[in-house]
Amino acid sequence: MRVLITGATGYVGQSVATALAAEGHHVSALTRDPDSGRARTLAGSGVRLVQGSLTDRAVIAETLTETDAVVHTAYDPADQVGGERALFAALAEADRRPHVVYTSGCSVYGEHAHARLTSATPVDGGSVRAGLEAGLRDTGVPHTVLRPGMVHGGDARSSIVGAWFRDALTTGPVHRGRRDKVWSWIHVDDLARAYAAVLRAPEDHRDRVYLLADSQPASASAVVEAAARAAGSTAPVTLRPIEDENPLYRVFDRDEVVDSSPARAELGWAPRESGVIEALPASFAAWRTVGAPWISSPHAMPSDAAGG
Ligand SMILES: NC(=O)c1ccc[n+]([C@@H]2O[C@H](COP(=O)([O-])OP(=O)(O)OC[C@H]3O[C@@H](n4cnc5c(N)ncnc54)[C@H](OP(=O)(O)O)[C@@H]3O)[C@@H](O)[C@H]2O)c1
Repeated sequence: MRVLITGATGYVGQSVATALAAEGHHVSALTRDPDSGRARTLAGSGVRLVQGSLTDRAVIAETLTETDAVVHTAYDPADQVGGERALFAALAEADRRPHVVYTSGCSVYGEHAHARLTSATPVDGGSVRAGLEAGLRDTGVPHTVLRPGMVHGGDARSSIVGAWFRDALTTGPVHRGRRDKVWSWIHVDDLARAYAAVLRAPEDHRDRVYLLADSQPASASAVVEAAARAAGSTAPVTLRPIEDENPLYRVFDRDEVVDSSPARAELGWAPRESGVIEALPASFAAWRTVGAPWISSPHAMPSDAAGG
């Protein structure tokens, strides 16, 4: 299949590009900067680079004429809504309508008190992410929505785990907000395999929403502590009230436990990688090599969809 990936130079997209290429798909990657190190690495592994932004309608329209599926993982903190709506408009106008696999996240549920999140749990219609999912649905383009839990693993560069590594090496480890909150997690490479699973039989997964996580929810405080130790810090964890924090942290100041059983049953997908705590040492080693600036990056924009 000819697959166009948006965001293939990003944390999630790079793993997805690798997984799809391994399945034999012909992968193209939309990137604003084909000369970046990450873009060149993709090109070196056989991915075709398409220079452009989500808002470059002519580039997208031209590329869609030779595309069977679009995997959307791009995230533009400077203009998340504008970029995605431009992509949706290009998809709606395309003569050949590819199947779209759309990356969403659990911010779609807004503030909630659900013990377990499922695809039937009502979303918060006022959230950025819910609005974008609705915008995609309105195009009528065949699509599948993936809502991952907290993503970890790999070089953790856009994972909250990367922010905790950074804290450990700078201010000392910090836990923000509720101490007892428990989150579902998914390794970035397991997440990537879910996109590949959808594209094995896209029609079977048309208009479906899948939540994706491993079966080992872990408390945020336990992961903060373990991330600090993986980073070599022996300092005690400082507790900070959520009110003083970047809005990004407030989005998930609650339990976020997801039910991924439909994905397992219908996609034939199952996580294979280590759980978040076990993966931390390898992840820290990889994170160090990229020096990922998570919280000082544009992801720190006060969007309820940032990071998921
Ligand atoms: N990271 C997490 O823990 C997590 C958890 C749940 C859900 N998610 C969701 O997963 C998605 C991907 O997140 P990520 O962490 O992989 O993001 P990321 O590492 O920041 O990557 C962002 C990607 O978007 C591309 N991009 C940004 N603006 C663009 C534009 N205007 N036009 C075209 N491409 C553009 C960038 O490509 P170029 O710079 O090469 O153009 C880059 O490849 C996001 O929707 C995020 O909310 C992430």
